Amino acid sequence: MMKKHSWAEPYKIKMVELLKITTLPQRRKAIDNAGYNTFLLKSEDVYIDLLTDSGTSAMSDQQWAGMMLGDEAYAGSANFYHLEKVVQEVYGYKYMIPTHQGRGAENILSQVMIKKGDIIPGNMYFTTTRLHQELAGGVFHDIIIEEAHDAANYHPFKGDVDLNKLEALVKEYGADKIPYVCIAVTVNMAGGQPISMGNLKALRAYTENLGIKIILDMTRIAENAYFIQNREPGYAQRSIRSLVKEICSYTDGATMSAKKDALVNIGGFLALNNTDAYEEASNLVVVYEGLHTYGGLAGRDMEAMAIGIKESISDAHIKARIGQVIYLGEQMKQMDIPITEPIGGHGIFIDAKRFLPHLHQELFPAQALAAELFIDAGIRTMERGIVSAGRNAKTGENYCPKLELVRLTIPRRVYTQAHMDVIAESVCNVYDNRKKIKGLKMVYEPKYLRFFQARFEKIK
Ligand code: F0G
Repeated sequence: MMKKHSWAEPYKIKMVELLKITTLPQRRKAIDNAGYNTFLLKSEDVYIDLLTDSGTSAMSDQQWAGMMLGDEAYAGSANFYHLEKVVQEVYGYKYMIPTHQGRGAENILSQVMIKKGDIIPGNMYFTTTRLHQELAGGVFHDIIIEEAHDAANYHPFKGDVDLNKLEALVKEYGADKIPYVCIAVTVNMAGGQPISMGNLKALRAYTENLGIKIILDMTRIAENAYFIQNREPGYAQRSIRSLVKEICSYTDGATMSAKKDALVNIGGFLALNNTDAYEEASNLVVVYEGLHTYGGLAGRDMEAMAIGIKESISDAHIKARIGQVIYLGEQMKQMDIPITEPIGGHGIFIDAKRFLPHLHQELFPAQALAAELFIDAGIRTMERGIVSAGRNAKTGENYCPKLELVRLTIPRRVYTQAHMDVIAESVCNVYDNRKKIKGLKMVYEPKYLRFFQARFEKIK
């Protein structure tokens, strides 16, 4: 008898979007025009788009139906109250302020919580999150466990905090200089690596006595819950829904980019439990986003988000979502492609240092590899290495992260298993020809978040 291990998507497809297949000369020209930056490609030149899982999900028929229920009143939209209720029920936070996307919430949170000279510890940086902390006068410190900085290290919870690193910061600066610890679920820059429930509980126990708050970057929380359910002893019988709520219960508030987990194309929110902080934030949101009952979103966007949040915590959904990512990762492992392990929640991260050992980091190996992957078959990926890391705001020096990765991010409910096969084959083809890949030179560097708009030239 065959054992039943397979998963299948818990949906069927009602509408399709046709893809365009381009030729090799067309792709060479397109990436050259884009300055070897996949963010500057036109989407119409892309065959399979793995640039990001942000805002690229397919919405369900229920979400589309919800769009028709948009209440576009300037103030007090019915969709706001629906979204508020869902956030309270699913995540357990008391207050919710909608924002146009995650970084809108990060901006407001940073302004409310950070004073000049404050220290913000976090389990690895995220680009926009760190920048908002810095713009508010804070200084970010990485307190993730060392294993997270090694793509080849197989640790089940590479998103865990090293409490000794946090303790050292408390000793050096004093707890009163640390308003909160910023905790990301399935840490994006580490390769979609989860934090364990045990580590989060221990962090809570340690910080509570010191009066340090915990703010969650809850962008991919359901995916993190899946790894707890499947890897952490004692949680196998728990539902994704209950794990999500438990994660939030150890924190004081959260910023959310609903463009990922919550299955919408735009939107986010800030969630808080403290009334004073909420009042300040709901005042500030008026300046940057819009009234506190719409925060830069249309009523219909809030409705789609409320429905998407409920769909995102279904066990069947998450099992298929991460099942597809793992399927692609396993294929690439069979072809000996060096990837970050364990396989993360939202994509496969190729280790460009091991893929292109002949290129040193100043030649932007991950950026060059992303360009080559596009040229091979029109698959768009993105760099997560020295370009993304940017420069130290004070000294102007390049941050040189240990991880030099190319991210193949899988949009939710968009591509099929056959697409995964085509992707793996293309990566394998580039791998076979890797010795021919030369590095890049940066010829234009924007001041903020340079990876989005920087331009490069091929080294001859
Ligand atoms: N936090 C994390 C962990 C993220 O991955 C992102 C966005 C944000 C915050 C900011 O949210 O884009 O809605 O303003 N990540 C996208 C990505 C851009 O491609 O990984 P946003």
